[in-house]
Amino acid sequence: MSADPALSKPQDPATVNALVARLESGIGKKPKEHGFSCKKSTFTIEDTVHNVDSWKFQEQDFKKHTLPTYARGLFTWRDKVSGNYRIAIRGYDKFFNINEVKCTKWEWIADNTKAPYEVTVKENGCIIFISGLPDGTLLVCSKHSTGAREETEASHAIVGERWVDKQLAQIGKTRRDLAETLYNANVTAVAELCDDSFEEHILAYEGDQAGLYLHGINYNLGDFATYSMPEVHKFAEEWAFRKIDYVVKDDVQQLRKFLEEAAETGSWDGKDVEGFVIRCKARTDASDPNWEDWFFKYKFEEPYLLYRQWRECTKALIAGKEPRYRNHKEITREYLKFASAYFIQNKGAADQYKMNHGIIKLRNAYLAHSGLKGADIVRMDLEEKGTGQDSNLKLVLVPVATIGCGKTTVAHALTKLFGWSHIQNDNLTARKGKPQAFAAACTKALVVCPAVIADRNNHQKRERKQLIDDMSPGVNQAHFVALNYVHHSSTDKDLQDKIREITRKRVLSRGDNHQTIHAATKNNSEIIGIMEGFLNRFQSVDIDEFPDRSFDNVIDLDPLKESRENLETVVKALHHAYPKLVPEIPSAAALDDAIKASFDEYKPAIKHTIKGSATPAPKRAQTQPQQQTSKKVDVDYFSVSLPPSIIVSAVEKAIATAPEEKRAYYYELKSAHRVQQKFHVTLLHNANKSQNKEMWERYIKLYSDAKAVGEPMGTGTIKLESVVWDGRVMAITASLVGDKWECANNIPHVTVGTSVGVKPKESNDMLEGKWRNGDIGVEQIDLSAEGIEVTGKVEGVKNGKF
Ligand code: GTP
Ligand code: MG
Repeated sequence: MSADPALSKPQDPATVNALVARLESGIGKKPKEHGFSCKKSTFTIEDTVHNVDSWKFQEQDFKKHTLPTYARGLFTWRDKVSGNYRIAIRGYDKFFNINEVKCTKWEWIADNTKAPYEVTVKENGCIIFISGLPDGTLLVCSKHSTGAREETEASHAIVGERWVDKQLAQIGKTRRDLAETLYNANVTAVAELCDDSFEEHILAYEGDQAGLYLHGINYNLGDFATYSMPEVHKFAEEWAFRKIDYVVKDDVQQLRKFLEEAAETGSWDGKDVEGFVIRCKARTDASDPNWEDWFFKYKFEEPYLLYRQWRECTKALIAGKEPRYRNHKEITREYLKFASAYFIQNKGAADQYKMNHGIIKLRNAYLAHSGLKGADIVRMDLEEKGTGQDSNLKLVLVPVATIGCGKTTVAHALTKLFGWSHIQNDNLTARKGKPQAFAAACTKALVVCPAVIADRNNHQKRERKQLIDDMSPGVNQAHFVALNYVHHSSTDKDLQDKIREITRKRVLSRGDNHQTIHAATKNNSEIIGIMEGFLNRFQSVDIDEFPDRSFDNVIDLDPLKESRENLETVVKALHHAYPKLVPEIPSAAALDDAIKASFDEYKPAIKHTIKGSATPAPKRAQTQPQQQTSKKVDVDYFSVSLPPSIIVSAVEKAIATAPEEKRAYYYELKSAHRVQQKFHVTLLHNANKSQNKEMWERYIKLYSDAKAVGEPMGTGTIKLESVVWDGRVMAITASLVGDKWECANNIPHVTVGTSVGVKPKESNDMLEGKWRNGDIGVEQIDLSAEGIEVTGKVEGVKNGKF
């Protein structure tokens, strides 16, 4: 019952010593300077003299080609007698999701891998490594740790150990037996700890489903080498591990077909699964004679992602925070309502949930209540994606670039082709609060347009996060798509230099045809200084981590290529992902024309200066900020402006669920296009200033002070109370949250729409004169239980203009 000695591959001391020396060299180093950085943690193990060191790399370094090993999970120890280092535990080489990196694109897979393709179910727990030390000690580790950890009651490794003991008891073996077997074979057993009584993940493992699922046996070598699945199964049977399911596919076509079919339901063999890990052999390129063990994963999106979203939102709910979510909004709202009621009815459930217990129970209770299954949700998701335009899907195209990459050229061309909205950061004149203003302008654009190009460099994660965070609450079903002008490449070390060269050339010959970069009137070194700043700060898109994980799609573009080619890449990718929005790819001639028109039209509407590192004090003549303080302040009213999508969806939802007879007036307004496009709560109108002198003066002062420094007055939050209407006007009554702002009206409200010939201000008369008195003919739907709070900018408005 030992591992087959024929499988054994011993460690070569010189190779391992060299590996550890390289690992040591990377401790605390900067990846940029050293190629990689790593962290060492040393653990003492009970009952043995051997200490083990765990090595941890930075996740993003796995995508580079500079690591000493790609093992994710690696422990070494030193033989005190010989002084040689030895590998104690060796995880799999880091593997990537399909399409995540170049070598997980189907084309690469077809060219550089070979069958058999062992497709294993990706179990959803946490990874446990098991191996033996020379003195017969059994070593059980999680990815980067072993033994008990103070902060958690039972660490993963300890729980794993308990399961191993249980298995060994079943077969009448000892820890020493297993340790010796593993040590002699020079391998690490790799298993998934799936045990809901310890920690729940997304998929259920209860009762007899729980345990250690053995999914691999790796040689303890620097280079990745691992047992085949039949060998893994054999070992699992011998040592009472749970086995993982797998199928074998004989070629790439069959493999792809199998995976894509399974993705349609998010399940396999009648069970919800997270995805698959595919094991095969690969070579680095066609000229490489060595085939090595190589893995990639194929993760399903739904319903797994939805379940994870629910788990995170539920935790926010329990913590009293606002749950943030971007997809499946409708069903998630319903789920959260159910969850709130559930926690009220089930005392103690919330505390349990916080400790990761009852996650699946609550989810299943909701699914049973709603009559939905995981497969229904996958179908809904596909429909939602497929029907783009019809289902109110809104696209936010987010360039990630530096100066001169051609963002504006491509954006102009897209607006030409599809009539989409194009918001240029460089056209916004308010200096401070600019990021917020930019996001607000993009949000606003989406009210009337299915897509907006958020034209600024977005070259730092901070900017991407701000844009996504600021836009998400205001736009129902927003899909963020990165137009990723790739700046780092593992195959082209000189890419940055080439980008520098080409963008400088373009920008310097652009002359003054730009809002902020005036190449004809500034000296070149100044411009170059500004451009260098962007290049140095550039942070690549990393879809594994937030904020870039929030991108629904990333379209890779090449800054060295002509904008015409990048335009075509964008259009094709969008056509593929959003066929309803881009039903067909425009002809080559149409693309040519769009780019040509873009070049011809290139003349920005606004000019202002920015400060660069090498910029002297801006010349006054060039600076034309619109926010000059005027002595005489001319404001018609002060108001809180509100995101239209939230107001419209609140009303639509209330109306849709109201009895038949209550729906007519709203639908009448809607079909006559009499629902407002913009919404606000008036705080104080010029007409009422004499009765509210102190308030008026206070607001005027705030307004002037804010305007002088180019900032907005601030933000205000209101809560929606009731939708109220008569046959002439519809409004939502609101209450102000907090005491920062006052409202001169007795009943603060948002006008939703009016019949032809009726002025919006009549809503106040309707509320004050009729609704308050309970007049007949005034209808209402209460919204207060929904708890809808809306935040917007407080502004001074003149004739509908800020
Ligand atoms: P900033 O707004 O300064 O960050 O730049 P941007 O990324 O918006 O680049 P823009 O589209 O303004 O392009 C920079 C300059 O290069 C402009 O003068 C464009 O006309 C020019 N340009 C853009 N694409 C191409 C191209 O494909 N070929 C050539 N020759 N010039 C291009
Ligand atoms: Mg531009």
